[in-house]
Amino acid sequence: MQKTEMLYEGKAKKVYATENPELYIVSYKDDATAFNGLKKGTIAGKGVINNRVTNYMMQMLEKNGVPTHFVEEISDSETVVKKVQIVPLEVIIRNISAGSFSKRYGVEEGIVFEQPTIEFSYKNDDLGDPLINEYHALALKLATREEIDTIKALAFKTNELMKDFFKKINVDLVDFKLEFGRLSDGTIVLADEISPDTCRFWDSRTHEKLDKDRFRRDLGNVEGAYQEMMRRILGE
Ligand code: TMP
Ligand code: ASP
Repeated sequence: MQKTEMLYEGKAKKVYATENPELYIVSYKDDATAFNGLKKGTIAGKGVINNRVTNYMMQMLEKNGVPTHFVEEISDSETVVKKVQIVPLEVIIRNISAGSFSKRYGVEEGIVFEQPTIEFSYKNDDLGDPLINEYHALALKLATREEIDTIKALAFKTNELMKDFFKKINVDLVDFKLEFGRLSDGTIVLADEISPDTCRFWDSRTHEKLDKDRFRRDLGNVEGAYQEMMRRILGE
C-alpha cells in the first residue's frame, strides 16, 4: 500500500490517501500537545508506541465484537485503516475520578465510581472542544439519535473489554477518550487511537501515572511511562 497525498495533519498524526479510495494510511508523530495545543513538546518514541499500542487494542476489541477502522500495520509508525468520516464527538468514559472531572466537580482524584460515566465533547479546536450533551449533538446535527445510541453502546462495551484487559497487566483504567467514524455505507466503527495519549493508566499497586499526564503535569519520565505501557500491553 502506497501513500498518495496527505489529507490531514493533526497534533499527533498525519492521514494520507492511498490508491484504494476506501483506505487511508495513518502516520503517528512524536509531537505532543496539551491544553488545546497551548503546551507543545515531543515525546521520543511516542509515534511508534502509540501506533503499536493502538493496533493491539483495536485488534483485541475487534475480536470481541467491537467494529474498528483497523486494517493492517505497515511499519512501526504507520497503519492502513478504513476510510471513515469522523463523527465530531470526543466520547469520554470514566471509571475513576481524575482530570477535568475532578476539576469541574471539585472532587479529589481517585474516587472509584460504582458505574462508569460517559460524556461528549464537540470536536472543535477553535471552540476548545466544549462539553455537550446528546441533545446538543442532535441539535447541531453532529450525529443521529441512532448513531449516538450505537456509539454509547460500543463505548461502554469497549470500557468493559479494556478494563478486564488492563486489570490483567496491573493497570487501572481511569478514563479514556474514543472517536468513532462512519464507513461509506454509514456503519459506525471505532476510529482514531487508543494509547497513553488518550487514556489515563495508573499502576494498580503503586498508583504511578503511566500516561500523558506525566507530560501535561511535568511529572518527568514521560518516555519511560510510555515504554512501560507498551511493554505490558504487548507482553514484551
Ligand atoms: P479530561 O479529564 O482532561 O477530560 O480527559 C479525559 C480523558 O480523555 C483522558 O484519558 C485524556 C483524554 N483526552 C484526550 O484524549 N484528548 C483530549 O483532548 C483531552 C482533553 C482528553
Ligand atoms: N491533545 C489535546 C491538545 O492538545 C489535549 C490533551 O491531550 O490534553 O490539546
